[in-house]
Amino acid sequence: MTMTMDFSNQTVVVIGGTSGINRGIAELFAEQGARVAVASRSQDKVDDTVAKLESLGAQAMGFSADVRQPEAIANGLASVHKAFGDFDVLVSGAAGNFPATAKGMSTNAFKTVIEIDLLGTFHVMKGAYPFLKKPGSSIINISAPQAFLAMQAQSHVCAAKAGVDMITRTLALEWGPEGIRVNSVVPGPIDGTEGMARLAPSEEMRQSAVNSVPLQRMGWPVDVANVCAFLASPLASYVNGVILPVDGGWATAGAGSMAMGMEAFARHS
Ligand code: COA
Ligand code: NAP
Repeated sequence: MTMTMDFSNQTVVVIGGTSGINRGIAELFAEQGARVAVASRSQDKVDDTVAKLESLGAQAMGFSADVRQPEAIANGLASVHKAFGDFDVLVSGAAGNFPATAKGMSTNAFKTVIEIDLLGTFHVMKGAYPFLKKPGSSIINISAPQAFLAMQAQSHVCAAKAGVDMITRTLALEWGPEGIRVNSVVPGPIDGTEGMARLAPSEEMRQSAVNSVPLQRMGWPVDVANVCAFLASPLASYVNGVILPVDGGWATAGAGSMAMGMEAFARHS
């Protein structure tokens, strides 16, 4: 089920928008009339996503860049601004994850996730700042339950996503006076995604994740996309600096079995 909202004549940029949850977000905004730009490292994935967004009737474009490269991100965002004008909505969702214990992880492995998730979020927000509509824009960072729940084999992601949420809250203060709202959305376990394939690779673990969600199902990308549409809409015009779980109550009540089970899937544990 999707909510119907009107984003026509609005520019929506989704960084990391070429697969999984973030692509679901890009598609929902496209269906609701927005001009949509996506970016990620793979030009093939960008091209495939742009074609899909166009098939949904949207004006769409994309660029390939790594969020670890601030100049490449800034240049890509400038090209979107040139074509599509000021940004109404920025979604920052590029991330990397793999299960690895601290003992089984190199410094470079830990650093890689910090650089993609945490520094990448900073690069995206800073690169987009000159092009954001002021007042009236909305930034949505895609966080994760690891930001506030400790999980085995996830120290790198826990540290990175906790940082993402603090960037969200801090820039909500710094940019709020200019009319830029900054919020985080925290997906729970979302079915069919790369993230779940990595964290729950067996059917047994997948079922255990389902059982640990109070609503007794995993989410779908559209569940997260609907909340992003709400946050980007005038209905949320007084919502700023929140960390909003979209997880069927998972973080509140049930994360335990997944939080303790993942060590078995770490490559070097
Ligand atoms: N366990 C332990 N260490 C691992 C690992 C694993 N499963 N996977 C990668 N690493 C280590 C590598 O060995 C390397 O460390 P080293 O130089 O000391 O050997 C370091 O992490 C970087 O790996 P590399 O493959 O060079 O990084 P990359 O920049 O090419 O790719 C990743 C980044 C590793 C995060 C990759 O998985 C990726 O691109 N992920 C994007 C998709 C994704 O994760 N989706 C889920 C989002 S929730
Ligand atoms: P995904 O399909 O792997 O999506 C990740 C996206 O980011 C892809 O478009 C990828 O494309 C891009 N990306 C990765 N590294 C990048 C980099 N260095 N620079 C630029 N782009 C990069 O993952 P997902 O499972 O849907 O997760 C999406 C988001 O939701 C992430 O922020 C994740 O932390 C969060 N989340 C997911 C779940 C879940 O259940 N899946 C739960 C909680 C939170 P390229 O490969 O082309 O770069």
